[in-house]
Amino acid sequence: MPRHTMRAIRLHEHGGPEVLRYDEAPTPEPGPGEVLVRVHAVGINPPDWYLRGGMTRMPGETESTVRLPVIPGTDVSGVVEAAAADVEDFSVGDEVFGLLRFPSFHGSAYAEYVAAPASDLARKPVGIDHVHAAGAPMAGLTAWQFLIDVGHDHPSPFQEARHRPTTLDADTTVLINGAAGGVGHFAVQLAKWRRARVIAVASGAHEWFLNELGADEFIDYTKSRPEELVHDVDLVLDTVGGPDSSRFLRTLKRGGAQFPVLPGDFDEAETAKLGVTVSTAQVRSNGAQLAELGRLLDAGTVRVAIDSTFALADARAAHERAARGHVQGKIVLTVP
Ligand SMILES: NC(=O)c1ccc[n+]([C@@H]2O[C@H](COP(=O)([O-])OP(=O)(O)OC[C@H]3O[C@@H](n4cnc5c(N)ncnc54)[C@H](OP(=O)(O)O)[C@@H]3O)[C@@H](O)[C@H]2O)c1
Repeated sequence: MPRHTMRAIRLHEHGGPEVLRYDEAPTPEPGPGEVLVRVHAVGINPPDWYLRGGMTRMPGETESTVRLPVIPGTDVSGVVEAAAADVEDFSVGDEVFGLLRFPSFHGSAYAEYVAAPASDLARKPVGIDHVHAAGAPMAGLTAWQFLIDVGHDHPSPFQEARHRPTTLDADTTVLINGAAGGVGHFAVQLAKWRRARVIAVASGAHEWFLNELGADEFIDYTKSRPEELVHDVDLVLDTVGGPDSSRFLRTLKRGGAQFPVLPGDFDEAETAKLGVTVSTAQVRSNGAQLAELGRLLDAGTVRVAIDSTFALADARAAHERAARGHVQGKIVLTVP
């Protein structure tokens, strides 16, 4: 049985990485439909520093439900320690991984134990360890829900229309910007799994990595402007965003689509004139989809690249690493 208290990273105030405090906190109890997971590893993601920095309302929410102190984090891999009576899919001792309660800031993953909705979990692929499994949930599901299947009917906070992935096959070419990052490196591999031709855009240090993941072409954005080199692609997946994301529109063929992972401003008149569409989505927890991704991870069709690992107590250093940028794959916290 777990102790009444556990070690966890908590925010007592918002701010820089220094506000991530290694604390003693109450061990959670699983509610209906939940299991208690003994956490072995935690994948870190941009919403963790959005919350740390003071964002307490997810897009689409009208009011904040975050109360300090709060344990940040969404992505875990670990072992089921206890299960509520109504949970049928998981038992004590099962190895599981998941994206918890997203979109919300109530994942509470930076801890020795977390109460996790069973519907957010899948069995950890036996062929990979907890560190690699913890790197998969948010970034992997984002790539999956943008490129393969949205998997839910929740309205998007970003657009009226439902996001629809486009067909990916041997006749399609996909440009992926930010290809070496968390979302990008899964997107490259899922597009290759669907036999699409992939043009990967990243800084030069990632060329070998992206070629090894299967990219057909690599563009170093520090040396050339991809929008001047590339034409007639079917799909652009932009994980970087920002005000000049719309420059990629001109790389698309008529009928093509751009998927900004970070929603931005696009001129409807320009997209209409070019005959292209722009569509975005918000990733949501989905244990069933994670199980599908898990099968690809088990088969080695998709792999999780680890940029670096840090002990849970050193979450501050992990966030400082993320802030330096140029991440290759995922940053993961290990829980002793
Ligand atoms: N819509 C959603 O539901 C959703 C879900 C997940 C993430 N996101 C958003 O998606 C973004 C990416 O998340 P992530 O977890 O993949 O981040 P990440 O792991 O930090 O990856 C970002 C990547 O972008 C590359 N990059 C930075 N500037 C670039 C540029 N100008 N051109 C090309 N590449 C550049 C970085 O490396 P190099 O510069 O060295 O190439 C890095 O590999 C975040 O803003 C996040 O908030 C949205």
